[in-house]
Amino acid sequence: MIIDGKKIAAKLREDLKKKIIDLKSTFKSVPGLTVILVGDDPASKIYVKNKEKFSKEVGMNSEVLRYPKNVEESVILDKIIELNKDKKISGILVQLPLPKHISQKKVIETILPTKDVDGFHPVNVGNLSSGYDSSIPCTPLGCFLLIKKIEKNLSGKHAVIIGRSNLNGKPMAQLLLKENCTVTITHSKTKDLKEECRKADIIVAAVGKPKLVKGDWVKKNAIVIDVGINKTESGIVGDVDFDEVSKVARAITPVPGGVGPMTIVCLLNNTVECFKRANS
Ligand code: GUN
Repeated sequence: MIIDGKKIAAKLREDLKKKIIDLKSTFKSVPGLTVILVGDDPASKIYVKNKEKFSKEVGMNSEVLRYPKNVEESVILDKIIELNKDKKISGILVQLPLPKHISQKKVIETILPTKDVDGFHPVNVGNLSSGYDSSIPCTPLGCFLLIKKIEKNLSGKHAVIIGRSNLNGKPMAQLLLKENCTVTITHSKTKDLKEECRKADIIVAAVGKPKLVKGDWVKKNAIVIDVGINKTESGIVGDVDFDEVSKVARAITPVPGGVGPMTIVCLLNNTVECFKRANS
């Protein structure tokens, strides 16, 4: 089975659109998302354009603030402080990566945890790992929703995550742990990645290596989620060898059209949740 992330995300956006109409009639205002983009990284420009497009489509107030790549760090931090105080803004997202002269840590920690729609602020990271209510990073949340579409009860399943980043691998582990999975986080120093993957009921590949996961790495009937977006001579490919793995897996996400569309809808959902918490 090929998991159609595009279709699932479209349905979730329809649901959000209705939710926002209801919120508007209750609170006489709608959620507002501000995205900050520094520089002209081509991939970031596309991601931000899509975030703007879909946030408008579901009826939010949305703005993108664009800065040149040599902008001073203090300009970005001051803008975040201003947005933190602005009641019309429910969520703030600073697109990563940032130029080297701007501290990612400082930027993340300047955003109010209650407006941190990425779930990257240490307070939200702590809340997630403690099992408390928080914004959850959008990509792992999107992966998680896709896994739950395939399998409602994850208790006791063995999940293997490839990649230990703060953006994907670590929060992914927290989400699966909460569902009583046995979780293995693998990374570049893992001794035998293939052997680890062969034990998995669920594989989440988020490592940025084209077609790394092969057919003989995957147990029959495993669920395979591919977070990778790798530019190659033959076009965009994931971290999973789709042709090989789709013959063995029970369910697999394609690239593109799998995790990508879910990430954006999770961002929109996080913005709605921040709006609701601010108004409750
Ligand atoms: N760059 C790549 N993925 C992300 C994300 O989820 N959030 C932000 N802010 N930047 C990113």
